[in-house]
Amino acid sequence: MVVLGIESSCDETSIAILKDGELKANLISSQDFHKLYGGVVPELSSRAHIQRLQPLIKGALQKAELEKSDIDVITATAGPGLIGALLTGFIYGKHLAYALDKPFIPVNHIEGHIFSGFLMEEKPEYPFLALVVSGGHTMLVIVNSETEMKILGSTIDDAVGEAFDKVAKMLGLPYPGGPSIQKAADRGNEDAYKLPISETAGRYDFSYSGLKTAVLRLINKIKPTDGELDDQTKFDIAASFQRAAVEALLRKTKKALNAFPVKTLCLTGGVAANKMLREGIQKLGEKNSVKVVIPAFEYCGDNAAMIALRGEMLYNAGESFPDEFEPFPEFYSKYLVTD
Ligand code: KG4
Ligand code: ZN
Repeated sequence: MVVLGIESSCDETSIAILKDGELKANLISSQDFHKLYGGVVPELSSRAHIQRLQPLIKGALQKAELEKSDIDVITATAGPGLIGALLTGFIYGKHLAYALDKPFIPVNHIEGHIFSGFLMEEKPEYPFLALVVSGGHTMLVIVNSETEMKILGSTIDDAVGEAFDKVAKMLGLPYPGGPSIQKAADRGNEDAYKLPISETAGRYDFSYSGLKTAVLRLINKIKPTDGELDDQTKFDIAASFQRAAVEALLRKTKKALNAFPVKTLCLTGGVAANKMLREGIQKLGEKNSVKVVIPAFEYCGDNAAMIALRGEMLYNAGESFPDEFEPFPEFYSKYLVTD
């Protein structure tokens, strides 16, 4: 079976092809020009997706040595994401499916991230605990099977990736903020400033607005009135922020591991590229004697391989959608539910 995956929820246009469960292509075109604006400009993102979708589909088919007519199932991200961006890939996929007379499966982007560990050779074992950390979401999810997931907690304000992006902007570091903060933090002292580690008492939810505000207050307090922060101060703030942000994730994950007997701990989403977090999760898993699965970098950030994989799972589970189904920013499947 050949599955085509389309991802266009934010600033990555990505096309993937799975053939009999094997990933044959996963092309990712990042819209780097958003750097000029310090963040994603939705209208420009949609336009870039429209320009890039067709050549990427052609390129992916070429790479996989397949023809359009070989495609059996088409899958695309239906949400969450920027509505204009979602519409481009979704409508493209839906119409391609119509033209080829093949089934079309809408996929929840977060579910794509949750199951991205299955793209690795060493696969997660059920039940597993997924820590999903991206620009739009921070979530702890217990995954019992392909069709049974329970959200333990999620962000009540800013997502962790969003906090990295906003703090980078405050420090004048380039977008996307995650990699910039990590790079700056490598040269800084994480003990330089004491920043709050968020605690949502007794719950598994996350909050990052307090930490973000604490960084802003700190910058305002120490910034010279007639100038900029010096580089070393920026590195120290980045390191102190990174530690507080990562520590909050590790504490909640530890709490969940203690409360739920799982076989695997999975770290997924764009922020899973963070070195300190990867190391922390690895150690946590080892301490709790659970297997740890962290996808390779190309499957952490937004990619269509995870969408094709999740779409294939849903297709095999007998999922189907009415022709008039549309993508929307808060699209959730019936499988990913809160208690
Ligand atoms: O999953 P993703 O590609 O897109 C969304 O679904 O949001 O995640 C993007 C987020 C951005 O906020 C980016 O700053 C963050 O992932 N990120 C990182 C790192 N690399 C990317 N955050 C921390 N450390 C990194 N190395
Ligand atoms: Zn994502």
